[in-house]
Amino acid sequence: MDPQRYLNVDSWQFRPSSAFNSPFWTTNSGAPVWNNNSSLTVGARGPILLEDYHLIEKLAQFDRERIPERVVHARGASAKGFFEVTHDISNLTCADFLRAPGVQTPVIVRFSTVIHERGSPETLRDPRGFAVKFYTREGNFDLVGNNFPVFFIRDGIKFPDMVHALKPNPKSHIQENWRILDFFSHHPESLHMFTFLFDDVGVPADYRHMDGSGVNTYTLINKSGKAHYVKFHWRPTCGVKNLLEEEAIKVGGSNHSHATKDLYDSIAAGNYPEWKLFIQTIDPDYEDRFDFDPVDVTKTWPEDIIPLQPVGRLVLNKNIDNFFAENEQLAFCPAIVVPGIHYSDDKLLQTRIFSYADTQRHRLGPNYLMLPANAPKSAHHNNHHEGFMNFMHRDEEVNYFPSRYDPVGHAEKFPIPQPILTGRREKCVIGKENNFKQPGERYRSFDPDRQERFICRWVDALSDPRVTHEIRSIWISYWAQSDKSLGQKIASRLNLKPNI
Ligand code: HEM
Repeated sequence: MDPQRYLNVDSWQFRPSSAFNSPFWTTNSGAPVWNNNSSLTVGARGPILLEDYHLIEKLAQFDRERIPERVVHARGASAKGFFEVTHDISNLTCADFLRAPGVQTPVIVRFSTVIHERGSPETLRDPRGFAVKFYTREGNFDLVGNNFPVFFIRDGIKFPDMVHALKPNPKSHIQENWRILDFFSHHPESLHMFTFLFDDVGVPADYRHMDGSGVNTYTLINKSGKAHYVKFHWRPTCGVKNLLEEEAIKVGGSNHSHATKDLYDSIAAGNYPEWKLFIQTIDPDYEDRFDFDPVDVTKTWPEDIIPLQPVGRLVLNKNIDNFFAENEQLAFCPAIVVPGIHYSDDKLLQTRIFSYADTQRHRLGPNYLMLPANAPKSAHHNNHHEGFMNFMHRDEEVNYFPSRYDPVGHAEKFPIPQPILTGRREKCVIGKENNFKQPGERYRSFDPDRQERFICRWVDALSDPRVTHEIRSIWISYWAQSDKSLGQKIASRLNLKPNI
């Protein structure tokens, strides 16, 4: 070994674990590897010696390459870019990254399907995740949305059961309609979501040609403390495109990663995907004037009454360098907000606030927010430390608060919503359920061909031999309550009498 090789290495210099610039092969601990082709054996034919530390380390690392996949949204693709404010909404929020037109913030975005495994086809009828991490100067803001603007259920206590019903049968490992229709027959609040899932938009052409939505109601709050409920919406500048059944079979049959490839290739070709961000806002002082509850996630806010206001644009102009580091290890969480943006009492959002960080501590470990893709790009400081895989370099002697030795104090106070909260302890459903009106309106907004495709998909799903007469009748009654002719049409194709 040439001793000159080490002359430039200052062993006391701090080298981040990502330093990957050795001119020769090494073990993880930095020892030179002089042969990466053959195992260390006794004689030319073996056996292999346990003292071949490099071999053991290489196999052991390989054996642990996979981490648990996300319990939902396991299949996804990500890309980087920026968000730019185009319209001033500083009257609504004191969020620093929204402070003025022209302000740009780096982002990473992950698109996903929901139900199936990490390697599943991207042509399945399934909602698509649309999660954006804004690396702002005041810490990260995660807008963890979907391509549809509503959700199946409105209380997170039902989420694990809902996911179990949608996931493959635990016995056969096949996704089965009878289980899905059984579960949701107890939940007419899901009808609105099904007018998206069973519509043409249920299979987006790829990730570039789809809408996005924050789905849950959040709160914007300005410097003087005035709050507005807000819903966020992304609209692709290249328009929305979907795959009809036969197209999906063709596309998925020739490439089960077509949407990941489409995203990667278009960025590599300089054809950068772009979305415009819009908001809708409601003044909480007037929240009772609607026939729906503004914090009910199964409802859209009619755009003719609550118009879309433009805010900014999202441009994805950089592919990720490493799928594991910037996709598998990426962790979004609806609880990660910045001053000027707060949650609402939306019961589904409230449960999401807990669930994401909890699963990520399990999936990635307690220090998952130190991983480069998840760490804020702004400075941070607290005494949360140690734990598995903590790789932060720290040398302070005061790791408690308060202390007269540590000069770091509290941040400046920022406004949060101020309503006085009162009430008995209760477990109940919300007052204004209104489950049927919006699904019916949406169905009637489809042209006749689109209505026909919607009906066919329902007839097909309800024709699953394991769907009982009772479940079929419930679904027909639900659709009839949304739109009488829709219920009648599905019933007559199934040779049933609508019980309207
Ligand atoms: C109470 C309801 C919900 C619960 C408990 C829940 C829970 C979860 C969990 C545990 C994950 C996996 C996170 C990870 O391992 O990193 C996840 C991912 C995700 N969820 Fe939800 N979810 C809920 C509702 C929703 C809703 C309403 C939306 C849409 C607004 C949504 C969008 C997403 C997205 C986009 C991801 C993937 C994030 C990524 O790309 O890594 N979820 N959810």
